Amino acid sequence: MTESYDVIVIGAGPGGYVCAIRAAQLGLRVACVEKRATLGGTCLNVGCIPSKALLHSSESYDDATHALADHGIVVAGVTLDLTRMQARKGDVVGANVKGVEFLFRKNKVTWLKGTGRILAAGQVDVDGTVHTAKHIVIATGSESTPLPGVPVDEKRIVTSTGALELNAVPKHLVVIGAGVIGLELGSVWRRLGAEVTVIEYLDRIVPGIDTEVATAFQRILMKQGLKFRLGTKVTSAVASDTGVTLTAEPAKGGDATQIEADIVLLAIGRRPYTEGLGLEAAGVALDERNRVKTDAHFATNVPGIYAVGDAIAGPMLAHKAEDEGVALAERLAGQAGHVNYAVIPGVIYTWPEVASVGQTEEELKAAGIAYNVGKFPFLANGRARAMGSTEGFVKILSDKATDRLLGAHILGPDAGTLIAELALAMEFGASAEDVARTCHAHPSLNEAVKEAALAVAGRALHI
Ligand code: FAD
Ligand code: NAI
Repeated sequence: MTESYDVIVIGAGPGGYVCAIRAAQLGLRVACVEKRATLGGTCLNVGCIPSKALLHSSESYDDATHALADHGIVVAGVTLDLTRMQARKGDVVGANVKGVEFLFRKNKVTWLKGTGRILAAGQVDVDGTVHTAKHIVIATGSESTPLPGVPVDEKRIVTSTGALELNAVPKHLVVIGAGVIGLELGSVWRRLGAEVTVIEYLDRIVPGIDTEVATAFQRILMKQGLKFRLGTKVTSAVASDTGVTLTAEPAKGGDATQIEADIVLLAIGRRPYTEGLGLEAAGVALDERNRVKTDAHFATNVPGIYAVGDAIAGPMLAHKAEDEGVALAERLAGQAGHVNYAVIPGVIYTWPEVASVGQTEEELKAAGIAYNVGKFPFLANGRARAMGSTEGFVKILSDKATDRLLGAHILGPDAGTLIAELALAMEFGASAEDVARTCHAHPSLNEAVKEAALAVAGRALHI
């Protein structure tokens, strides 16, 4: 039977499901196509949520085995029940994906179960049934980028999906790629007892993150036991029943070496996922990196077909996908939704966390923008001392002439929460002085943000 909708969204990840809910809230008749057995996309099923569950559990384990002693808490006989830890992660995911199903029912969004294929503007085939709609939204997300010579089997050579499912702690985990996935999941398995070696093609970790922050971050991770081989490329990985043999060589040329691992995690980035969507036949244009090409209002070159999230340009982040979903839904309902790409925070959920918003020092230099820097270490923050979490610092960059905030970068405890204050300040066009003159509760980690803002004008009080 053919059903007619105002909007059919293909993909129920954070971009798609949020777009569907917002469009329904605005009175549109909405269906969302999802082929996975559960809603929520990569983020809820195999991304943000399960990784944060394991990060939290492994952090607690690490506290019990290492950090608590420092607080005078003696915990004896700590053991790891990985089966229970994984089951808990599964429960967390289950509750979240069911939550989206509830929200669909509440907002009267129809879940079309199956694989969506665009036949033409206005027509979507879902496993043999054609549904029609005024607007089609592509929100099909992304998948792990493959590496020639490193065949993923999700058992010995895994992507993040397999790395979230391991049922034993590997003796030696080799991670290819010192990016967000590699360092978050590398941290999980390191805390649970694995030896972890991270191999990175570039001569630095986390490209895109402010270099001063990245350098300090690497030092902290090395103290936690992560080993790094930078400027190195993996040319092959051969899996056997007992492990994996990797061949690696210097990125700039040189002798190859072999590395033995129990498990290899391939985490060299993600690429848009549009397989089987029928884009070519429908005439939807892609850009040079195979992302769906859109204009500033998420419209593709084919009238009536739009795209959001990981499938289009921009950072592959859940909140970016969500904000695009909302903005597009509002546009389809005749409103003026928009996304401010200059203020999208990014967080790496290691311990300590790394969080940033706006431009890095390198970006400002490259753009020839004159700026002031204010920095404040957590070592000088009373709350961080009380917590025993004094590593890292807050760094604030503001325009030299106007003092308007241009970027903020935090390495430290709860950096992911602290960055929200600076994102909000930037959204309102605040100056560093505005932040510095805002009363911050004492003793709080946020005082480090205030002090960094004071430091922009050379008047930090506690250093
Ligand atoms: P997705 O979430 O990928 O959803 C797309 C959905 O479309 C999928 O469910 C897929 O099954 C479905 N689909 C695809 N094609 C079809 C079709 N033809 N028919 C029907 N259904 C289809 N981001 C953060 O901001 N914070 C984090 O902490 C974070 N952690 C992450 C951890 C990991 C391990 C990974 C892999 C990613 C993480 N991300 C994180 C990134 C985040 O998951 C993505 O940016 C986000 O999920 C993108 O949302 P999306 O809606 O564009 O696509
Ligand atoms: P990434 O882009 O963060 O990092 C990939 C790393 O691999 C880079 O350092 C890159 O230089 C390196 N690399 C590329 N090719 C290589 C090669 N051949 N050999 C060795 N190193 C190589 O990608 P990652 O970690 O896979 O994550 C994918 C996406 O998922 C990211 O874009 C991120 O935005 C998102 N994500 C976000 C999280 C968060 O917000 N906390 C958590 C996890 C993922």
